[in-house]
This record gives sequence, C-alpha cells and structure tokens, in this order.
Amino acid sequence: MAPSQTSTLPLDAESSAALARTGLEYALVDPDGDGFASFLSSVARGFLGEEPTPEQVESSRSALRTRRLTGVFDRAGDQPDVPVATVDSWVSELTVSPERTLPIWSISAVTVAPTHRRRGIATAMLTGELRTAAAAGYALAGLTVTEATIYGRWGFSPAAWASDVVVDTRRARWTGPVAPGRLDFVPKESLPERITAVHERMRVRRPGAVPGWEGRWRGIAGLTPEAPDAKKVRAVAYRDPAGVERGILVYTIAEREEFTAHELQIRALFADGDDALAALWRFALEHDLVGRVTAELQPAVPPVQWMVSDRRAVTATLTDHHWLRVLDVPGALASRRYSGPLDLVFGVSDPLGFAEGAWRVRIDGSGEAVVDRVEAEPDVRMPVGSLASLLLGGVRATELATAGLVHGAAAHLGAVDGAFAPAAAPLLDIWY
Ligand SMILES: CC(C)(COP(=O)(O)OP(=O)(O)OC[C@H]1O[C@@H](n2cnc3c(N)ncnc32)[C@H](O)[C@@H]1OP(=O)(O)O)[C@@H](O)C(=O)NCCC(=O)NCCS
Repeated sequence: MAPSQTSTLPLDAESSAALARTGLEYALVDPDGDGFASFLSSVARGFLGEEPTPEQVESSRSALRTRRLTGVFDRAGDQPDVPVATVDSWVSELTVSPERTLPIWSISAVTVAPTHRRRGIATAMLTGELRTAAAAGYALAGLTVTEATIYGRWGFSPAAWASDVVVDTRRARWTGPVAPGRLDFVPKESLPERITAVHERMRVRRPGAVPGWEGRWRGIAGLTPEAPDAKKVRAVAYRDPAGVERGILVYTIAEREEFTAHELQIRALFADGDDALAALWRFALEHDLVGRVTAELQPAVPPVQWMVSDRRAVTATLTDHHWLRVLDVPGALASRRYSGPLDLVFGVSDPLGFAEGAWRVRIDGSGEAVVDRVEAEPDVRMPVGSLASLLLGGVRATELATAGLVHGAAAHLGAVDGAFAPAAAPLLDIWY
C-alpha cells in the first residue's frame, strides 16, 4: 500500500547527485518552517505573480501544509536561502471509471529561476518526483500544464481534455430542460463547504477528475488574499425538490461598455445531476444585463450546446488539460473498468524505464483487466506517453495510430478502441 503521507519520503539520490555536480542543493522545504515564505516567493516569480504579502504567505501555508515541497538552492548566490527552483507534490485520487479511483502522485508549482534556466534543473526535479513516486508504489503521476511543450519529454501526455466555452446569450434562447428545484444566492463564506459536498459526489463519477481542496475552493470563492475579483464573487445554489443541494454556480460579472451586454464569467459550475446543470446554466444565460457567458474547464462537447435554440451561440475551444504519466503498467491498466474483452500484448517504450516492456493485457467479459509482464512479440507498440493518453479512453488507439503514436494491425487497434471506450468522456474540472 503506497503511503499517503509523502513529505517524509527521502529525496531521490540520483537527482541530488546530478544537482550537486552543478553546485546546487536539492532539499525538502518545511511548510511550517522559516523557508516557506522564500519557497512561495520563488513560485510566484516563476508564474510571473506579485511578491506574496505576509497574509498570503500564511494563507498559502495552511493550504500547502500537507504537501511535499522541494526546492533547489544555489548556496553561492546572493540569496542562498531562496530556492532557484521549486516543485510541490501530494497524493490525490484519480477517477479512472465511474466509482473507481486510483491514488495519483500530483505535481505542481514547477518553477526554475530565469537566472538558472536550461541547465537541467527541471529535468532533475521531474525525474526525481517520478522515481520517488514509483518507489513509493504509485502507478501514475499527474499534472496540469501552462505550456504543452514541457512535460512530454518525461513521459507525460494528455489523458483528459477540457473546453473553454463562450456563449452569446442574445442568440442563445433557452430550450433545455426546466429544472424542478429552486435557486438561491448563498454567502461566499459558505462556498468551500458547499462546493466540497457537490464536487465530492460528482468527481467520483467522471474519469479524469480529482478532488479539490480547501485552498482551491477558497480561491474560487474569492476568500484568499490573492483571489482575482474577490469582491465581485457571487454564488447561487440549486436545491432539488427534496431539499438536497445539488449544484453550485460561482461567478463574477465584468462590466462592458454596452450596459445591457456585460460578461458573466463562471468561476465554477458544479452540478450533481442533470437538473442542477440545466438550472445553473439557465440562470447564467438568462441573467439580466448580460450578453456573454464564459466558462472554462467544461466538457469537450459542452451539454449547454444542446440546451439553446442556436447551438452556434456556444463556442467551445478544446485544450489538453490533465496530463498523466504511467509509472506502473499493471497498476494503472488494471485500475479501470473496460467496455469489452481484449487479449493483446502491448509493447511500451519508456526511456526512463518505469513502463518499458511487453505487457499482456487480458480483459474479461466483465471489463476487469489482468496485466502481466511477458517475453512476447507485442501486438501493439507505443511510447509511454501514448499509454497515458489511452488509459481513460479520451483518445482512441486508431486516432493515435494515424499520428504514428501507436503501431499495430488494424484489427488489434480496433479491439483496443472497443475495450478502452470510456463510460464517460474524461474531464478534469479544476486546475492543480
Ligand atoms: C519550464 C521550466 C520549469 C523549465 O526549467 P529548466 O530547468 O529550464 O528546464 P531544463 O533545463 O531541465 O530543460 C529540460 C528540457 O526542456 C526544454 N524546455 C524547458 N522549458 C521549456 C519550454 N517552456 N518550452 C519548451 N521546451 C522547454 C529544454 O529546452 C530542455 O530540452 P532538452 O531536454 O531537449 O534539452 C522553466 O522554464 C520555468 O520555470 N518556467 C516558468 C514556470 C512554468 O512555466 N512552469 C511550468 C508550469 S506547468
């Protein structure tokens, strides 16, 4: 059983040695220690943010207390105790099939100071995270990315996609379901608890999802010192006829020149059920004095397209969002439920070694997989990144084969497509 507390796991010796050879020190940072403010300051610099205030330091300290914070220090520099590179990791839970989850090593706050870029520091930190995660027994690592060009080299690849949605509300007359429950404004101080309740129920049904955390919900609610537009945040909750709260919409309104066409910007729309989804979208689209509604991290084909008179009033721009890295092939593949039987050997190439080899993947009629390492000629071959992209069924083997990212006979690829078809399109609805 992989440990859920990771902050005390030892630092990876290979990365320590690689960094030491260039005069750098790899070290864990205690979230409760004096070094935390410097760590946070380096993260803010990496993401081009403002210098954190003492209030922000304390707010982030409580949000990051359970995390494994690692810094790289250049002790010969002018600020020897301010890390020149940072990474933050923790254990989360990935939904792999409805009601089935797998622990995942989540990575964030990857930064390297511009003074120290392109010397292999990110490589040392990322490979160090992967070796530590694999040694501790995790089958997958995951992250969300600011740029799509960075993480493929370490075997990460997109496994869930999300759309940025824009709706022209003057064209989009509501034709969707009329929900039987009620909507009420709710105080933003209550949002972390309310969002947790709804999101915890919905995220276990959606492959690709992970839980949020208090700090993430406080940011969305405008309750953290650095939250943008904090004073403009408003929220409504949907309750079903039995009185159960099923959905939360958190939004701000950005004023536009034309007073009848302001922009309603959705910060979160979490719905546990179709009625809640329809009620909250309808509220947003029919809001007075609004001409445009925007929402990010929506399904690839947003359901709201089917709920308005003019579907072209809804534009959805698709982006890769949840990137995964397979560390343990049997552990990752056997975690989910499949849509059909399969008996094929997957040949996986992995320059970092974790997933390298030939793996016999047998899926029985009930959709359960057994995966064993074998000495056999593979039926389908792929780099480790393609395996991560196939895992949740968000992309088909035949599609990746078109791009030369999976190789195999058409019949074998078709069988993989059938077996890996997801119960629901993978989606990750938060950033981490
Ligand atoms: C992205 C970042 C962490 C890379 O750090 P780094 O220490 O310079 O990276 P490395 O020296 O280990 O470079 C590793 C490889 O990645 C490449 N690379 C690094 N950053 C890249 C980028 N933004 N786009 C494309 N390639 C990049 C390097 O060219 C190098 O390529 P190679 O393996 O073919 O030689 C650093 O530029 C940074 O802090 N950026 C700002 C914050 C950020 O974007 N973080 C990522 C959040 S998801």
